[in-house]
Amino acid sequence: KYEKIWLTFGIGCLVVFLTVVGVSAFAAGQQPPSCLTTIDPEKVDTTPPFDQPGLVKKGENEYELNIVVAAFSFTPNAIEIPKGAKVTINVTSKDVIHGFQIPGTNINMMVEPGYVNSLTATFDEPGEYTILCNEYCGAGHHMMTARIKVV
Ligand code: CUA
Repeated sequence: KYEKIWLTFGIGCLVVFLTVVGVSAFAAGQQPPSCLTTIDPEKVDTTPPFDQPGLVKKGENEYELNIVVAAFSFTPNAIEIPKGAKVTINVTSKDVIHGFQIPGTNINMMVEPGYVNSLTATFDEPGEYTILCNEYCGAGHHMMTARIKVV
C-alpha cells in the first residue's frame, strides 16, 4: 500500500511538471518577436516613430518604446519606465544586425536593418535593467549597452 502512495505521488509530480512546462511554453508563445514592418535603414532618423525615439504613452499604463540601434549604441540609452507598465518595444538598426537583450527578463530579440522588430513586456519589478547587444557587430560590440530604470 506504500507503493500505491508513492506511485500516486510520482504521477502527481509528473502532472505538475508537465503543466508548468506547458504553461510557460504557452506564456512565452504569447509574444513572439515579429518582423512584419520594413523600414529603409538609411532613413531611420526621419521615419516615425524612430525620428523621435523614446518612450511614448499610448494609454492607461500602456507605452511604446522606440529604440534606434546602430554601431555601437542604443538611442535613447537611459530610459525610465513606470512600474507595472505594459511596454511595446520597437527596434530597428541603421547598419548591421545587433541584438537586444535584457538579462533577468525574457526580452531578447534581433535588431535587423530594414525591419522593425517588436515585442510587448510588462515591467512589474522596480530596479535597474541593462540592455545588451548579444549579436557580434564589430569592435565596439562589448560596449553596446543601455539602461532601463523601472520606478
Ligand atoms: Cu551591436 Cu553587438
